[in-house]
Amino acid sequence: MPARVETVACDHSPPGPLSASGYPHQEDRTQSADKPRIGQKPIAVTPRIGRTPGQASTTMSSVPFDQLDGEIWYNGEFLPWKDAKVHVLTHGLHYASAVFEGERAYGGTVFKLREHTERLIASGRMIGFEIPYSADEIDAATNELLVRQGFTDAYVRPIAFRGSEMMGVSAQKNRINVAIAIWQWPSYFDPEQRMKGIRLDLAEYRRPDPRTAPSKAKATGLYMICTISKHAAEAKGYADALMLDWRGQVAEATGANVFFVKDGIIHTPTPDCFLDGITRRTVIELAKRRGIEVRERAIMPEELADFDECFLCGTAAEVTPVSEIAEWRFTPGETTRRLVEDYTAVVQPQRAAAE
Ligand SMILES: Cc1ncc(COP(=O)(O)O)c(C=O)c1O
Repeated sequence: MPARVETVACDHSPPGPLSASGYPHQEDRTQSADKPRIGQKPIAVTPRIGRTPGQASTTMSSVPFDQLDGEIWYNGEFLPWKDAKVHVLTHGLHYASAVFEGERAYGGTVFKLREHTERLIASGRMIGFEIPYSADEIDAATNELLVRQGFTDAYVRPIAFRGSEMMGVSAQKNRINVAIAIWQWPSYFDPEQRMKGIRLDLAEYRRPDPRTAPSKAKATGLYMICTISKHAAEAKGYADALMLDWRGQVAEATGANVFFVKDGIIHTPTPDCFLDGITRRTVIELAKRRGIEVRERAIMPEELADFDECFLCGTAAEVTPVSEIAEWRFTPGETTRRLVEDYTAVVQPQRAAAE
């Protein structure tokens, strides 16, 4: 029996402890999803009031993701949510020939949408395919879907994957399918709750050598070890796991980058074999704007004993303070708090101004 299971929004799951009241219902649909667009077939959309979508990191909810209502953009069309299906003989499912993104909309705008879309296209190229839509087309589809779904604060999941025309390691002729799904996911900014910090274990698996896998791609195959590691950590009562890399250096968490603070200076691993997160780059910029020195360098796990503060960051995690990693302890402090606040101010300027 785990001593303590924390759910945390540092992966791609709907929110854990940062939401005061569990997963929100979808009653704040402010815009009509039923409004047909020019050139678009109108689709009957079932009202979503009162449905609880998705599942938190460690708990099943009553409505699985494939049973939600609304629409999914799939290969150029807006389909009813439940019709956006794949066949079991899909190359992406068998051989992990798929790349994806995780994005967040705040106040009706997807944060750094173009950067995410460009990374999606680049990830596809890294695993050997060309996504058959331009960045402009993908961005336009995302923005239109956000309106059609009627959400302002939401999670956006584009995915591109090889289809089922050929089934084998070689799949040169397979169609590259592209889908975008958006589900509601408000960001709860409760600094006090957040500042308690989350607990991480040390993962057994390591981020691979870039000569072993295209480690800069946000490719589904690279998440196999993340799910294994996160499940193992959760089974022991931790929120997540810190992964080392193939050399034994500190790398990242299973779905977020990691930062440390010592004497007011920020230290973070050089992203040479894992994702250089869009949030990571934003946080570095915010820290520098505050005049905080940021050192990107190789960090060995033994050094963790010397750091005062630690936090994770990612689109889903935003800036999440960490209180423990295995035997190491941290006290979320001023530097982390500033960055939690600065990040919120950047992604939700209206909200920050109101507080
Ligand atoms: C393994 C991994 N590292 C880092 C990140 C952070 O990336 P970003 O800030 O671009 O969301 C993510 C988020 O998806 C991730 O899955």
